[in-house]
Amino acid sequence: MKTARHRGTARSPIGVFDSGVGGLTVLRSLVALLPREKFIYVGDTARVPYGTKSAESVRRFALEIARFLKRRRVKMVVVACNTVTAVALPDLRRFLPVPVLGVIEPGARAALAATRTGRVGIIGTEATIRSRAYEQAVRRLNPSIRSFSRACPLFVPLAEEGWTDHEVTRRVAKLYLNPVLRKGVDTLILGCTHYPLLKNTLRRVAGKTELIDSADETAKAVRSRLEQDGLLASSGRGACEFFSSDDPKKFTALGKRFLGRDLKGVKRIHLEGV
Ligand code: DGL
Repeated sequence: MKTARHRGTARSPIGVFDSGVGGLTVLRSLVALLPREKFIYVGDTARVPYGTKSAESVRRFALEIARFLKRRRVKMVVVACNTVTAVALPDLRRFLPVPVLGVIEPGARAALAATRTGRVGIIGTEATIRSRAYEQAVRRLNPSIRSFSRACPLFVPLAEEGWTDHEVTRRVAKLYLNPVLRKGVDTLILGCTHYPLLKNTLRRVAGKTELIDSADETAKAVRSRLEQDGLLASSGRGACEFFSSDDPKKFTALGKRFLGRDLKGVKRIHLEGV
């Protein structure tokens, strides 16, 4: 399946994708750190959520998006979705001729830098937690760290509903987090694109526990890889182009909250059988 490698040039765009709008939290950090880069963002809003689906379906969806990005001749792909990173990163790396970076390794690294007690909590979608990808990443980096995981499937719809500081969200958060907090964790990895939006509520429930948002760490990892490969855009203006597999209007309205600013010119794409 592997085709000829093309490295791209410093002016080639960076592909960023997610199951929907959630990955815009990662794009936000990327744009802040790499203002001269051109980004192509794909949100598979027609098939979101991925977190409740089988690994096999998520892999198929991810490869369809990868095919689209490959045709756009991107110089790198950032998998801004925890679920896709958890279940499809090796498949994407085999398929794409350019570097593919996910959000899990940077998130795990940041958690290890933050923990004092060596006890780390991990929350994410069902598919992410089932894959044990975060646990494995943490263990690879430091085998003496103990991790405790919990799937929090209701957080994604609550964040999309905009109930970020809502009483219902606080109650749900208590039910999900208390069993993990009781294990004495001092650091909690927010292993899902949507969870940073719930930070205020999660902070109230988690008290002094450090919350790790992998978006900034991922952006740093992207920058160092670009530097290492001599592909960092050092001049010119940055830009973002957006593609959505469902209604662009909905993507635009919802996306604003995740990106923290207006999005313009969202285009519709068809990904099935690409
Ligand atoms: N983007 C997904 C993640 O980070 C959350 C939404 C979904 O389930 O598709 O895991």
